[in-house]
Amino acid sequence: MMSKSRTDKRPLRLLMVCLGNICRSPTAHGVMHKMIINKGLEAEIEVDSAGTNNYHIGDRPDARAIEAAAGRGYDLSVLRARQVEETDFERFDYILAMDRQNLRELKRRCPSGLQYKLHLLLDYGDSEHDAVPDPYYGDDSGFELVLDLVEGACAGLLDAIHAEHLSP
Ligand code: 4NP
Repeated sequence: MMSKSRTDKRPLRLLMVCLGNICRSPTAHGVMHKMIINKGLEAEIEVDSAGTNNYHIGDRPDARAIEAAAGRGYDLSVLRARQVEETDFERFDYILAMDRQNLRELKRRCPSGLQYKLHLLLDYGDSEHDAVPDPYYGDDSGFELVLDLVEGACAGLLDAIHAEHLSP
C-alpha cells in the first residue's frame, strides 16, 4: 500500500507558543523534540517555540524550567527565547498555544486564511486542564505540572499527526 510518508516533502512544522517563551513553550519544545527523536521522526517533524510578548527575547529558559525538565531527561538549556513573527503563520503547520490568552493574541495577529493552524496544545491531551497554567510566579510544583500536562498533550498530538499525515 502507498504510504503517506512525508519523506518526499518538507517536514511538518510545529510551533509551541506561550507569553514569554521562557517557561511553558520551551518545555513543550524540549518535550516534543525528544519524543520526535525517540520515534525516529526527525525527517518528518520539526518543532520550535516562541512567545507572544517581547520581554525575554534572547533569554535562556527560566532556571526552574531547565531544572525541572532536566529531572525528566529533557535539555532546555540550548533554547533561546524569541517572539512570534508574522512569517511564523505561513511557515508552521500547527501553532499550539499554551493558554487562551495566548491563543487570543495569536488569533488577533494571524491572517484570516491561516487561522485553521491555531490550536490549544491541551486539546490534544486528556487531562481536565484546558490550559497550561503559567508557573512564572509560583513555586516548583508549577513546573512539574507544566511537564505533566505538556507530556500528555505532546503524546496526543504526535498520535494525531501520525493518523493525519504519516500513517499508510
Ligand atoms: P511563559 O511564562 O509564558 O510560560 O514563558 C512567563 C514568563 C515571563 C513572564 C510571564 C510568564 N513575565 O511576565 O515576564
